[in-house]
Amino acid sequence: MRFDVLTIFPEMFEAITQYGVTSRAFSKEILHLKTWNPRDFTSDPRKTVDDRAYGGGPGMVMMVGPLEDALQAVQEDIASSSAMKKGPTVLMSPQGRVFNQDLAKEMSQLEQITFVCGRYEAVDQRFIERHVDFELSIGDYVVSGGELPALVVMDSLIRLMPNVLGDANSAQQDSFSDGLLDCPHYTRPENYKNFLVPGVLLGGHHGRIESWRRNESLIATQKSRPDLILAARKKGLLSLKDEKVLQEYLETLASGLNK
Ligand code: ADE
Repeated sequence: MRFDVLTIFPEMFEAITQYGVTSRAFSKEILHLKTWNPRDFTSDPRKTVDDRAYGGGPGMVMMVGPLEDALQAVQEDIASSSAMKKGPTVLMSPQGRVFNQDLAKEMSQLEQITFVCGRYEAVDQRFIERHVDFELSIGDYVVSGGELPALVVMDSLIRLMPNVLGDANSAQQDSFSDGLLDCPHYTRPENYKNFLVPGVLLGGHHGRIESWRRNESLIATQKSRPDLILAARKKGLLSLKDEKVLQEYLETLASGLNK
């Protein structure tokens, strides 16, 4: 897989190329990342990439020219250096479709993705209309540029790539991978200031541990994200046993409230 990133802050991408499990994908060369700075595609001495908005108003707008030329360079680089076909151009933007694990799974199948990281107030609409395949948001809030959102998206795609995570199963065990939140986890010591690890985890009984984890997952999801329980139910991901666990949990909750 290959990521190309249009950004005026290329150093920020060292966060995934140099650190933690994501850096493994780069050192193993199963993944390549190339940054393209729109400032390198300007012709004025100040390397201007933004200007005031037509019609007035606060904030600057990223100019179409340097972005378009940078994207053209990506296209040429891919065409000249590999048999790879260029994938979608994705603009990180709070106006975009909201990213989630299903979309992560879909995007992780792509061979190449170009991320465009906006800065300033906006990106000239002509760039979006001419070149962007889709806009992608990491949530209903605004951060100062597309770099952090692109890093979030890339990190989640990298986790799904084969041979990146140490334990072959750990991506499958992540929160959301089965539509539910993750269960609680514990490590040594067994007794920390009289706060004990749940006994079932110490017993070595595989079936019981699995069942405890599933139940805890269901309860954690019902507590924090009841919308995910509804979605899982709609997708047919909940068994009769799951439904019973949820029902019992809701009944205990209700009886507690009635006391
Ligand atoms: N740029 C600014 N805020 C963003 C968000 N929430 N998602 C993606 N890109 C952004």
